[in-house]
Amino acid sequence: MSFIEKTRAFASRDKVYDFLIPEPVFDDSLDTRHGPILYLEDISVSFDGFKALNNLNLYINDGEMRCIIGANGAGKTTMMDVITGKTRPDSGSVFFGQRIDLLKMDEPAIARAGIGRKFQKPTVFETLSVYANLELALSTDKRVWPTLFAQLSGSEKEAIDEVFLMIGLMEQRHRLAGELSHGQKQWLEIGMLLIQQPKVLLIDEPVAGMTHQEIERTTDLLLALEGKHSIVVVEHDMEFVRSIARTVTVLHEGSVLAEGTMASVQNDARVIEVYLGG
Ligand SMILES: Nc1ncnc2c1ncn2[C@@H]1O[C@H](COP(=O)(O)OP(=O)(O)OP(=O)(O)O)[C@@H](O)[C@H]1O
Ligand SMILES: [Mg+2]
Repeated sequence: MSFIEKTRAFASRDKVYDFLIPEPVFDDSLDTRHGPILYLEDISVSFDGFKALNNLNLYINDGEMRCIIGANGAGKTTMMDVITGKTRPDSGSVFFGQRIDLLKMDEPAIARAGIGRKFQKPTVFETLSVYANLELALSTDKRVWPTLFAQLSGSEKEAIDEVFLMIGLMEQRHRLAGELSHGQKQWLEIGMLLIQQPKVLLIDEPVAGMTHQEIERTTDLLLALEGKHSIVVVEHDMEFVRSIARTVTVLHEGSVLAEGTMASVQNDARVIEVYLGG
């Protein structure tokens, strides 16, 4: 795309921040100097006429921890599907930093650009060791897997050890991943994301099915990651949300119903009516 085309494409976006307009776009590198690392604007997604997302606007700041709450079917997972390229919106725009148009990229390209996603169900390789799972996650290019094991550099080994310390599975590293508890599998999968050093981590219902103790460890893990990555967490467990929340966004019928501190959204009459009251 030529410079003129790029500038036109940019100027034709429905809604832009003032600071986005005057600066010509010369490259596609991640630029978060002015704040948000993720912009979702006017996003709508319909499934057979049902609007799962309805003119959703969401801005995630660089380095922030954002919790997203809302009733079943509010559109939380669909929102993550849009960011990661799994679902294409009918309308709207999704930018990573100010320059990277995620709607022009496919799922693998979005992941490579630095947006890591953790699905609700753990998807570790059960028949491999915990250590091998992390090794494989080092490379998203599956063609190099057969040769990877022999080629790990010293710094890659250090990176793996660092992640093991972070996720608390150092002692389990030689066990089969399939033998881990549900909570441990969730941490391993978070570790498999971390090893790829994502800028943004999208985590859908991380503590569902965890024991109380596992939830506490997950809280510690996410708080330790705060600031190193921008983190978007979807969760129904309000006690957990309260323990990690800074800004909380409440989704309702595919749009933002309320946004603010946990205390402010908890006291919001509309939020109580549609979600917390039940
Ligand atoms: N692929 C799909 N085809 C048809 N309908 C879908 C599809 N994906 C989601 N939906 C519908 O869109 C709505 C939003 O679903 P979504 O999974 O985003 O909700 P959610 O907020 O993640 O809910 P939960 O808290 O239960 O996980 C729901 O009514 C759901 O049934
Ligand atoms: Mg969901």
